Amino acid sequence: MSHEVVEKNVGLLAILVILVISVGGLVEIVPLFFQTETTTPAPGVNKYSALHLEGRDVYIREGCYNCHSQMIRPFRAETERYGHYSVAGESVYDHPFQWGSKRTGPDLARVGGRYSDDWHYVHLINPRDVVPESNMPAYPWLSDTVLSGEDTAAKMRALNIAVGATCPKCELYSEEEMANAQKEVAGKTEAEALVAYLQGLGLASKQW
Ligand code: HEC
Repeated sequence: MSHEVVEKNVGLLAILVILVISVGGLVEIVPLFFQTETTTPAPGVNKYSALHLEGRDVYIREGCYNCHSQMIRPFRAETERYGHYSVAGESVYDHPFQWGSKRTGPDLARVGGRYSDDWHYVHLINPRDVVPESNMPAYPWLSDTVLSGEDTAAKMRALNIAVGATCPKCELYSEEEMANAQKEVAGKTEAEALVAYLQGLGLASKQW
């Protein structure tokens, strides 16, 4: 009977539909506000050093994420190939996150320590020199382009705002770290920064 009343009264039906969707939405969304797992660094995950941060920016600028994900799904086929599946607390210092969604090349979330630095330098200059069948583009200019470190401190300051707003337990950059940032990166090549970044990916997961 009451069902018939609702079906014959569009206004009432609309109100009840909105009510049901709102309650459903709240029940799904509100608990996430209290889930600290997504806003707490996973064990061993630390903020990027000045050089790693510059390397991450080269990674973003060159669009490496267009072919490489950094997101290992919790499936056996994935974990046997790459290592521990990705967890939310790994990405707390990543603004923007580098999960990606396209895998023309392998996932890179656990690539740290898999190859030597020299392997990476050769691979970046010409991937075919180490993996003959590779269709990854060559990035030879990275080894010739030297970082000035002029805006590294500004990048750290910006990251402090983003990380500070989203991750209460994260460690922010101190004034001293920002003051020393330029010294740390100036004169290094973009390839050195990128390789440092790659070699740090997933290191924390080895202790889980
Ligand atoms: C057009 C797609 C494409 C782009 C863009 C690309 N890659 Fe690759 N990458 C590949 C493919 C395919 C492979 C597998 C063959 C090989 O090892 O070269 C690969 C392999 C790799 C590997 C070895 C991974 C492993 O576990 O063996 C690393 C490291 C890597 N890429 C880093 C990068 C970085 C850094 C960038 C950006 C500067 C980049 N790639 C851009 C396609 C790409």
